[in-house]
Amino acid sequence: MAIRLGDTAPNFTAETTRGTIDFHQWKKGSWAVLFSHPRDFTPVCTTELGAVAKLADEFEARGVRVIGLSVDPVDSHREWERDIEDTQGEAVNFPMIADADHKVADLYDMIHPNADDTQTVRSVFVIGPDDKVKLTLTYPASTGRNFDELLRVIDSLQLTAKHSVATPANWNDGDDVIIGAAVSDEDARAKFPEGWTELRPYLRIVPQPKG
Ligand code: BEZ
Repeated sequence: MAIRLGDTAPNFTAETTRGTIDFHQWKKGSWAVLFSHPRDFTPVCTTELGAVAKLADEFEARGVRVIGLSVDPVDSHREWERDIEDTQGEAVNFPMIADADHKVADLYDMIHPNADDTQTVRSVFVIGPDDKVKLTLTYPASTGRNFDELLRVIDSLQLTAKHSVATPANWNDGDDVIIGAAVSDEDARAKFPEGWTELRPYLRIVPQPKG
């Protein structure tokens, strides 16, 4: 069944390149990114894993644990990791789930039979500290993902989880934000004592809250 925003991310145990994990225990109440790849030793996937490895400090700064998945076995993942380090200039620094029996792929609806009935699509799940799904993305096998965009979205998810704001189109960390629609002007005056720019009663702009 499809996984929707706000659902509890299904738990599972799986073999990974870093040993067997219980997913919820592995993420230990932190933010997590679970992302799938169609297959090992494929070109777009090779560039994606190198790109994510290079962003390790960025994920760590945001308190996000990263885990990959493809439907090949651990031995294959390990051999492929050598290629990734050689060709992308960065060693894979996060676990990769070996999902040969499609257990996790089926649980997370990562195989879309009308696209390909054996390989996973490029799925991304961002999961919050409460184990709830905060974001899903689905890309086809032929299109590599933009992991800077993933960091940008995580910045928005973390900011809006903490403050009663929303982030506008093309927002980046540090840009002005929007006072949440559910916040009355009276509550907004308490939360944003410096005031706001009101373009419309429903479109109130404030500097990004700190902290
Ligand atoms: C790739 O990673 O390049 C790829 C994987 C599966 C199908 C097509 C492309």
